[in-house]
Formats: sequence, C-alpha cells, structure tokens
Amino acid sequence: MTYIIGMVSQKGGVGKSTLARMMVREFVSGGMTAKIADLDTQQQTCTNWAGRRAENGVTPELQVQSFASVKMALEDATRFDALILDGKPNASDQTLEIAQAADLVVIPSGQTVDDLHPGVVLAHSLRKKGIAPEKISFAMFKTTGSDRENQAARQYLVDAGYTVLDGDVPVSTAYGSASDIGKAITETSFRTLNSRAAALAQSVIDKMAELQERQSA
Ligand SMILES: Nc1ncnc2c1ncn2[C@@H]1O[C@H](COP(=O)(O)OP(=O)(O)O)[C@@H](O)[C@H]1O
Ligand SMILES: [Mg+2]
Repeated sequence: MTYIIGMVSQKGGVGKSTLARMMVREFVSGGMTAKIADLDTQQQTCTNWAGRRAENGVTPELQVQSFASVKMALEDATRFDALILDGKPNASDQTLEIAQAADLVVIPSGQTVDDLHPGVVLAHSLRKKGIAPEKISFAMFKTTGSDRENQAARQYLVDAGYTVLDGDVPVSTAYGSASDIGKAITETSFRTLNSRAAALAQSVIDKMAELQERQSA
C-alpha cells in the first residue's frame, strides 16, 4: 500500500514544498521508497530543487516528478511506499483533490493569527467538502523562540478542532541555504537545526502510523 501525504495551505510561502522535501528525504533515509509529486507546474519548486541536489551530488538521491494533475500523480503511486503531493502555492480546486487523495493532509502554518486563521479557514472548508478532520494535521513552521507564542498558536488550532503535530521548524536562514544547494532541512550544517526538523518529520510518521492503525481496527 502506498501512503499518501498531501501538503496544502491557503496562503503561499508557508512551507509546503520545504516539508515535502524534508519528508521524502526522511522516508528514503529510513529505507522506504518515496517520491514527491510536484503539482506546481508554474514554479516547480521541488523539481528544481531535485535538479540542484543532483548537480551538487547530494545523497541519498531523491525522486521528484512533475505532474499536471493529481490523477496522473496517483496512477504512478503504487511503485512507492510513500507519495508526497506538493501543490500550487495558494489554495485552488487542486487543494481539495490533494486532500481527497491523501491519507494525511498537512497544513503548515506560522504562529501569528495572520497565518493561523487562513489555515483554519482552509481546514474548515475541506471538512465541509467531506474531508475527515482526523486526517488533517497542522505543522508549526517558521516559529520564533517564544514559548508563550508557540503555546498560544497550538491552542488556537486545538480550539478550532485540529491536531497539531509535535515539534516545529524555527525560522533560520540556514534552512534556506541548505535548500539552495539541494539539501533538505534535516541536512543543514547545524545538528540542532537538523534534529528540530527531524522531530517534526518523526511526528508526521507517527501520525501516519496512528491513522493506519485506526483504519485497520
Ligand atoms: N525554517 C525556515 N526559516 C526561514 N525561511 C524558510 C524556512 N523554511 C522555508 N523557508 C523559506 O520560505 C519560503 C517558502 O517556503 P516553501 O516551502 O516554498 O513554501 P510553499 O511551498 O508553501 O509556498 C522559501 O523561500 C523557503 O526557502
Ligand atoms: Mg511550494
């Protein structure tokens, strides 16, 4: 069975592509077969990143393929243990298709209400269109160092009825620099930053396992 993770958001620039690249790297490092389906045909963020990765000889080699539609991405999915769907920058008709196809829907969000609110609006609209709330999880992304702010953001999402994944990815230019040379955010030059990202990746994996158990129960 192929596990499908969908990265979606209302706003662009929240971290979908960054998370997609982190997850494919962590799956493959863990011995699974995985691929990103890059559905952003305009920007091809992940496809271009894979090109930089190959040029710089970064290992392990990772697979990213560009697809014009979710349907086409799914046709090819059975060859992999995990398929990560990375969509267009902003919410569109494609967002619902990604959510429908996904076993787990991840919505990255910053900590301010300006970021949290659109994420919740999107999650609510997906629920209205029949997406089970259990399969929606928020990921705290580009966080600041403030514990109070972090707690408040998590509470905001819990109060709205959603799960927040354990761990978070702080704002850091080192993550951007890693990405520039085709590395994932678990592959920066800084061990602490790598383990922060890896902890979030692990909670995505734990959430997948939890949902799978529930399905087979
Ligand atoms: N932890 C981080 N700290 C600072 N900037 C980041 C971090 N993670 C990603 N970025 C930058 O944020 C921008 C948007 O990220 P991206 O993953 O492409 O968002 P999306 O796919 O949701 O549009 C990119 O320029 C990326 O390099
Ligand atoms: Mg993107």
